[in-house]
Amino acid sequence: MTTILGIETSCDDTAAAVVVDGRHIVSSLVASQEAIHARFGGVVPEVASRQHLLQIVPLVEEALRRASLAPQDLDGIAVTVGPGLAGSLLVGVNLAKGLALAWKCPVVGVNHLESHIYANWLVESAEPPPFPLLALIASGGHTDLILMRDHGSYRRLGATRDDAAGEAFDKVSRLLGLGYPGGPAIEQAAAQAEGPWPKLPRPWLRGSDDFSFSGLKTAVLRLVEARRPLSASSRSGPSPSAVSGLGRPEALGLAAAFQEAVVEVLAQKTVAAAQRRRVRAIVLAGGVSANKALRQALAELSPLPLFIPPPSLCTDNAAMVAATGYYGLLRGATAPWELDIRPNLRLG
Ligand code: KG4
Ligand code: ZN
Repeated sequence: MTTILGIETSCDDTAAAVVVDGRHIVSSLVASQEAIHARFGGVVPEVASRQHLLQIVPLVEEALRRASLAPQDLDGIAVTVGPGLAGSLLVGVNLAKGLALAWKCPVVGVNHLESHIYANWLVESAEPPPFPLLALIASGGHTDLILMRDHGSYRRLGATRDDAAGEAFDKVSRLLGLGYPGGPAIEQAAAQAEGPWPKLPRPWLRGSDDFSFSGLKTAVLRLVEARRPLSASSRSGPSPSAVSGLGRPEALGLAAAFQEAVVEVLAQKTVAAAQRRRVRAIVLAGGVSANKALRQALAELSPLPLFIPPPSLCTDNAAMVAATGYYGLLRGATAPWELDIRPNLRLG
């Protein structure tokens, strides 16, 4: 039995978890900073790192307490080294190194994107996904199609050329005055929309496994400007107040139109890439995979076994970090003391 403590501080969620053998969550805690950043309409990096600093030690203590474990029961510490905000990553990595020194236990640096994929190993009721698999990682910072042939073997087939899918959700939500974070806000708004709503263009980028979402955001902006009453459109800048002139039914309809376009492109391109590469499964990962419309579209479209973590494991958490660290440790990937943050780390 291998017990790993996971630590996650890459963006705006502070998280600690204990996972056994890469699959069994013993404890998992997330302290969300959503309410703090919502006031600013997005993540403020310095505020995020200071919150991590305040939250992470009590969270680690609580994760161990809930697991009824003492430090000497741990076989390793896994910590996210990137990609993410430098100041946020430093808090987790520095703590992990300090704990490893004090507790004399190995520490392994984890790629945040890889850990999103490993959330799929934490669903105990199902067998883990078979290799080779195709993973769609759709988060606030990335939209990657990854061919995973085995543990630790990744090839990036495609990525976004501009905005990440989650970033597009966040920006469009802001445009429509629906709040932050945009993904859940747009999803809720779309569920309340009454059709018909406008049909937005689909950025297919035919012949490529890449994505592009910034044009969709611009298309929504154009429609917002066209629909806003004259008195409101004379205001300037894309701040939430600039869109307050948009009627609620119109905002809901545009949210539905936007979500429909993003979901259709993500789902169809993922299935097409999976069929072309002859993989054995499709795996969804990252915050955007919490989206019900996307989950449903892929479930309907995929001829292959489909793996999607429960929504609580789609967004940032430390259980997925511990699971990834477990497979890393099996490969002997323990980090030396020079372990550093890698804010621009990629996968594949
Ligand atoms: O993976 P994640 O928690 O953090 C990053 O690594 O970026 O993803 C956060 C992103 C945000 O852009 C958020 O708006 C989006 O995931 N998101 C969603 C939903 N829940 C979170 N997007 C669409 N629908 C959702 N239900
Ligand atoms: Zn993430």
